[in-house]
Amino acid sequence: MASEQTYIMIKPDGVQRGLVAAILGRFETRGFQIVGMKMLTPTKELASSHYGEHEGKPFFGGLVDFLSSGPVVGVVLQGKGVVAAARMMLGATKPLESAPGTIRGDFAIDMGRNVMHASDSVDSATREIGLWFKKEEVVSWTSCAAGSLL
Ligand code: PPS
Repeated sequence: MASEQTYIMIKPDGVQRGLVAAILGRFETRGFQIVGMKMLTPTKELASSHYGEHEGKPFFGGLVDFLSSGPVVGVVLQGKGVVAAARMMLGATKPLESAPGTIRGDFAIDMGRNVMHASDSVDSATREIGLWFKKEEVVSWTSCAAGSLL
């Protein structure tokens, strides 16, 4: 399984509930690397571009308004199979259908307040990383975990 990068984002409700460390900790302790991270309040333009494929759907306006309503934490995660793994760890889009043990299954109940986003494919990840990060904002580093320097 090749190393990949994906884009995950703690949405305004996740930040406001103080869930940033708890959510990111799950990815770090599993072994995925954070190679890019920033906190910002997205403009409506940026939020609209991020959710561009959903333009025209009934929830689009509310989703864009919500994403741009406060700070988010955008993260580039790297590791083997991380695109699919992050979606699995996130859980189903509708929090009430998310399995316990997933992020939404443990932290959310409302559809419009589902705490986190994760890219749904390698192509989406490439597009979203390019939208949220400049090339030089995505870094490279080597783990010093036991065994990794041998
Ligand atoms: S779709 O229609 O199946 O393509 O949409 P889906 O992939 O399930 O969801 C796309 C993003 O829209 C969010 N979403 C909603 N937000 C608020 N209210 C409603 N009703 C709603 N329906 C979908 C959903 O959480 C997805 O956002 P992210 O940030 O990727 O989770």
